[in-house]
Amino acid sequence: MAHFKKAKSIGEWLDQRIGIETLKKVMQSEYWIPKNINFLWAMGMILATTFGMLLISGVFLLMYYVPTVEGAFDSVNYTIMTEVGYGWLWRHIHGVGASLVFLIMYIHMFTGIYYGSYKKGRELIWLSGMLLFILFSAEAFSGYMLPWGQMSYWAGMVITNLFSGGSLEAYGLVEWIRGDYVPGQAFLGRFFMLHVLLLPLVIIGGIVFHFGTLRLPHVNNQEGEEIDFEASARLWKEGTVEARRDSKVIPFSPVFLSKDVFVMGVYFIIFFYLVFFNFDFAMDPVNFDPADGLKTPAHIYPEWYFLWSYEILRPFSKDIGLIAFAIAQGIFLTLPFLDLSPNVAPASRRGLFHIWFWLLLIDVLTLTLMGKLPPTDPLFATIGMVAAYTFFALWLVLPIITMLEKKK
Ligand code: HEM
Repeated sequence: MAHFKKAKSIGEWLDQRIGIETLKKVMQSEYWIPKNINFLWAMGMILATTFGMLLISGVFLLMYYVPTVEGAFDSVNYTIMTEVGYGWLWRHIHGVGASLVFLIMYIHMFTGIYYGSYKKGRELIWLSGMLLFILFSAEAFSGYMLPWGQMSYWAGMVITNLFSGGSLEAYGLVEWIRGDYVPGQAFLGRFFMLHVLLLPLVIIGGIVFHFGTLRLPHVNNQEGEEIDFEASARLWKEGTVEARRDSKVIPFSPVFLSKDVFVMGVYFIIFFYLVFFNFDFAMDPVNFDPADGLKTPAHIYPEWYFLWSYEILRPFSKDIGLIAFAIAQGIFLTLPFLDLSPNVAPASRRGLFHIWFWLLLIDVLTLTLMGKLPPTDPLFATIGMVAAYTFFALWLVLPIITMLEKKK
């Protein structure tokens, strides 16, 4: 056993037992961040804190939520919203947080794409990030079932119906997923378990892993500059004004963290503005009607953050639709392997890739808009279909245009 001295402080006591000083160095004071990054690099910490808000508000909601088909709707819309003190506040925080976490996740992803932060040793950061995106999608979908309103029921029906398509019908897959012929108690029970237990646990593990993947390659910077982190860190540690000025890095805590906290301050002003004055953007009016298996809503659509992939699914028949949907959800995973250029640089300096980036962004926005509109209008249906084909075409051309890119 190691040698233990009488500790003079709690810090020292902990240090002797779990090496808290080493941990602080690894996670904070000697975790080096490049100087030349902008506010977009605060999105990761904003995501982590928003997830924290979702956990805390979720725990409060869980105290009164009733996971039964008879009790769920009233427990949310009546008990929590009108009877429990500040129940409405926790619900608004949870709803707004769920919507904003996707907005910030998309900004975070497209920042990574723009600056090429998924290349040269950063592949695992990207892959673990995408894993988080998929997990968050499952978390949001399962959560959407819980109020057991009309949209919960019918979105659950439409999405699980995907697994009854064409050849899958024979295997009874959809009944297996639902635990019944239609969404009912078994369905609500399993989605409740996923939403409050299994998925949050896996997400926490995913976030720890994502943070771990950042440690060795370090975050990228807005010039795509290859920084010698060790040499720059030595300069910083010299401590003189000149050395610190010449160093290309700063320690995460307290220096960079203070910048993060500033951006987070701005974000939370917007967050709470939405929570208090504009929460309805995060809640669908149709979901304020209780689930009714005999009354199909005129137009069934998911929350805004799923609209682009929902629109991709629409033009295709069932089997192909499911495959197209699965590819759309997962295709971003392959980015580090489809981008064949070794250049780590902002898209603005990468010729054709720059055009590719903006086309992809515009395409995803178009799909989102079209996904919200009813498919009955032939013009919108055609635009949606063209955008869906464009989405796949863009991914097909990516290896070609990046192979042609000149080495810088
Ligand atoms: C809850 C989910 C997530 C959390 C908490 C999170 C957290 C973070 C943090 C703290 C950073 C470092 C600072 C920064 O660049 O912002 C980071 C970097 C990064 N994340 Fe995430 N992230 C999440 C989701 C994602 C997703 C969905 C992707 C996309 C695939 C992703 C890809 C990346 C990449 C590529 C970097 C490196 C950026 C660079 O090197 O400049 N992350 N993440």
